[in-house]
Amino acid sequence: MEEIFQAVEAKERKILVRSCNGAGKTTALAAICNWYLSTYPDSIVLTTASSWIQVKRNLWSEIRRQARAAKLYPGTKLGQTIIQVTEKHFMIAISPCIPENAMGFHAPHILVAVDEATGIDREIMDALTGNLTGVDAQIVMICNPIDKDSVPYEAEQSGEWKVIHISALEHPNVQNGTNEIRGAVTREWIEDRVRSWSMEVNLEVPDALLAESERAFELPWSGKYYRKTALAQARILGEWAQLDEIGFIPMELIEDHIWHTYTPSGVTLRAMGVDISRGLGKDATVYSTFDVREDGPDIQTGFHTILDEDLMATADRIKEKYDDAKSQGIELVIAIDDTGVGGGVSDRLKRLDVPFYAINFNNRARGFFPGKEIANARAEMYFVLRQELLDGSILLKNFKRFHQELSSVRLALARHGTAYKMEDKDLTKQRLGRSPDYADATALARYGLSLKRSLKTAHLL
Ligand SMILES: Nc1ncnc2c1ncn2[C@@H]1O[C@H](COP(=O)(O)OP(=O)(O)OP(=O)(O)O)[C@@H](O)[C@H]1O
Ligand SMILES: [Mg+2]
Repeated sequence: MEEIFQAVEAKERKILVRSCNGAGKTTALAAICNWYLSTYPDSIVLTTASSWIQVKRNLWSEIRRQARAAKLYPGTKLGQTIIQVTEKHFMIAISPCIPENAMGFHAPHILVAVDEATGIDREIMDALTGNLTGVDAQIVMICNPIDKDSVPYEAEQSGEWKVIHISALEHPNVQNGTNEIRGAVTREWIEDRVRSWSMEVNLEVPDALLAESERAFELPWSGKYYRKTALAQARILGEWAQLDEIGFIPMELIEDHIWHTYTPSGVTLRAMGVDISRGLGKDATVYSTFDVREDGPDIQTGFHTILDEDLMATADRIKEKYDDAKSQGIELVIAIDDTGVGGGVSDRLKRLDVPFYAINFNNRARGFFPGKEIANARAEMYFVLRQELLDGSILLKNFKRFHQELSSVRLALARHGTAYKMEDKDLTKQRLGRSPDYADATALARYGLSLKRSLKTAHLL
């Protein structure tokens, strides 16, 4: 906080603060606005944030609270979103939705103050910075570094800004294990958040996740290490989330869970995931199967890729596999990708009386990970797969093409939210040069099994 105030006082022109949640960003920004307006009698202060609600409710209620408490502007009315000392000396809130309102301000001293800057549009930023023509103009932008596709990230990359970084681990409450700054981040909050945003990593196990130690961070008071997931990075450590640099299921984790010899015996349950081909007659439909075992990890027995002439043929083939397993005394748990063209296969399978789980990737998650916010079924099925690998409860087929796909599927954040989703398939495709069908079929197989276990009975969905 001191560093921010000093930078403003030293007339740094462009100041960027990227910080964890609950550090006191909004409080500090309000103080800066009040300090500026009451220090320079010829000043204008322009304030905004990611949304009008944010500006009005958070930033401005704090600005008013401080102004009132310190009796900063005697004789001046403290408005909802304006404090006008004289005609040319005022502080005002600018709606982030109306760039025109942000233009045309002139004064010897101008301060632009932006809270929650990651959510700000470039247009409004351009309009605001257009006012910074004078020698003494300054801008302070405060953000939580959750999204690299943002004005603050570009600002930091440009090298033109004074960047101040705040990690929750540095906060006095957290350093001292107290609650001396009421309402701000605490050790308890961090511990609660890492449980849902991250996972503990055991340093004694030469785990794939720890192969690079920079992927983990320590909570010094407990000595425990946690994985630097995107949410933990942005919201706890105040670091730009490395969403696009980490595979969700790292290659090391995959390679540690491959089987080399397996003799099936007494299998009564088998799981099969089916990724239906999109370009009918061009791509193959991919089947991935697992033998479910009582006395050891489930074994991925293999893949089938079959080029069917149409969806009916695919459905018939699935029924064939189902009947075939049944005749061997094996229950086949089927999960198919029901998104898009897969719906056609679903319809046909229903008529054929084959029980199966139809997974629409865009549907809501079933809540297999309480406390984790997962945006949709596709993300949840990859969480299931990863968890099973971490638990050592499955072993994968040794097949390089599949491993390559699995390790290149990445995590993203649902826009404007804190929920996880998988990266857009198109991006994965671009990087991989093809669709991750083997990976999807495999995740589907495991997801179907989890659904069966959670619903207890075999369902015809
Ligand atoms: N210097 C301070 N002295 C006393 N209390 C403070 C101080 N700074 C912040 N607080 C309190 O800490 C809490 C969090 O502050 P604030 O809302 O400014 O944090 P923030 O970083 O903007 O949070 P968020 O990430 O939710 O936007 C508030 O209850 C605020 O009153
Ligand atoms: Mg805030």
